[in-house]
Amino acid sequence: MANISIIAFDGTRFDIVAAEGSTVMENAVRNSVPGIDAECGGACACATCHVYVDEAWTEKTGQPSPMEEDMLDFAVDVRPTSRLSCQIKVTAGLDGLVVHVPERQG
Ligand code: FES
Repeated sequence: MANISIIAFDGTRFDIVAAEGSTVMENAVRNSVPGIDAECGGACACATCHVYVDEAWTEKTGQPSPMEEDMLDFAVDVRPTSRLSCQIKVTAGLDGLVVHVPERQG
């Protein structure tokens, strides 16, 4: 288990106990975090699960894969800290992870 926090655009904070091996997107959907539509269900094919990884965590979450990079082109307001939350797998090492939901999703 790992504690992760997802901050909605309006500042609402969702503190979630996430199972290892689940994705950040799955936890967001399960907790009805607004702004994470995850239309493709985690197949890295929609970009509606776009999040900004908190600066303090970008090293631990790592870089997007080439396929994720391509899909991020369809996201809105992409930043260097942008990731698709369905491609971030929860591990014990991500205990304390914080991600932010963008204002708009593509
Ligand atoms: Fe579709 Fe992540 S849920 S790309």
